[in-house]
Amino acid sequence: MNIQFVDLKKQFQLLEPDIRQAIDRVLEHGKFIMGPEVGRLETELARFVGTRHAITCASGTCALVMALMAYNVGPGDAVLTSPFTFIATAEAISLVGATPVFVDIDPRTFNLDPHLLRDAADRVLEQGRLCPVGLIPVDLFGLPADYRAIMPLAAEKCLFVLEDAAQSFGGRYYGRLTGSLGQVAATSFFPAKPLGCYGDGGAVFTDDDALAAHIRSIRVHGEGQDKYHNVRVGLNGRMDSIQAATLSVKLAAFTKELETRQSIARRYTQGLSAYVETPRIPDGVTSAWAQYSILTDRRDQVQAELQAVGIPTAVYYPKPLHLQEAYAHLGLGPGSFPVAEAISRRILSLPMHPYLEDDEIDFIIAHVIKAVET
Ligand SMILES: Cc1ncc(COP(=O)(O)O)c(C=O)c1O
Repeated sequence: MNIQFVDLKKQFQLLEPDIRQAIDRVLEHGKFIMGPEVGRLETELARFVGTRHAITCASGTCALVMALMAYNVGPGDAVLTSPFTFIATAEAISLVGATPVFVDIDPRTFNLDPHLLRDAADRVLEQGRLCPVGLIPVDLFGLPADYRAIMPLAAEKCLFVLEDAAQSFGGRYYGRLTGSLGQVAATSFFPAKPLGCYGDGGAVFTDDDALAAHIRSIRVHGEGQDKYHNVRVGLNGRMDSIQAATLSVKLAAFTKELETRQSIARRYTQGLSAYVETPRIPDGVTSAWAQYSILTDRRDQVQAELQAVGIPTAVYYPKPLHLQEAYAHLGLGPGSFPVAEAISRRILSLPMHPYLEDDEIDFIIAHVIKAVET
């Protein structure tokens, strides 16, 4: 068996004629930057997510940075977020000169624990050094964070909510799609993400017309009426036409892929829940299943045993952000966020992509069981 952690080749084989045609069209018209594919994709993305605006950009990191820039976040500001995420979430906060304030996670969903948010915001205010201005909940592994608890609290504390939907594109929360759950959202189209392009890509989503216009300007060096009329400091954050063309083709196949991810996750859970802790999905919520992650006290042994029989796995994340050297200056040592730290020692992500065959899933299940029982 040749099990892939994420199988982009199988997807390409299925979509090859359409993808080649879409890329060929770009090669023929030659508008590699801001070609017609970009606007078309933005219309399709906004319709899919259900927001007024979708603004494509160079990466998920770029989407986060541009959203924070549009809120004028800068030095002296604090933005609350999870320590159990990819570094890009916190990095975006630091890149605009603000300070990430970490809040521990819920041990069942691995997302921000909303019960800790009020205290965290109040503590920042009491310390008086920073001003809490915003909040970035992360929809980890594809599972939307607890927005029903988060949004009223954020409103009470006057914090904007920037949804980090980098891993959750296609997820649902009480009938709404991820990307529409905060005032603004950022997603990533990194190749291994649920919807991925053939390079780097990302998008910002919002219903706020003024914010969208601001972000569109930031995306092209702070342009005003045109590229050589600059009304603010921006950056080069555009998505290439070739990536947009590829994503339109993949988006057309995405809904079916999401359904397959659901049935793969169900098969994993049925096979594994008696042996390891399997993901818990709250009522009313659907994960996009960027990752299927289990918890086991024997994580390292299980990973080694799976590797020995050719099953690739990954540890997301071996070190929470407050323990990374990049954030040593915050002075937050071990024990600062006990839930995130405990989960980082026990978590293991199994292969997850819509082209996993039933016999491959059963092989993985059988070997996980064997590994935890020896
Ligand atoms: C939670 C999270 N936020 C942000 C990003 C950044 O996305 P990109 O790699 O497209 O810059 C990622 C990507 O891995 C992510 O997982």
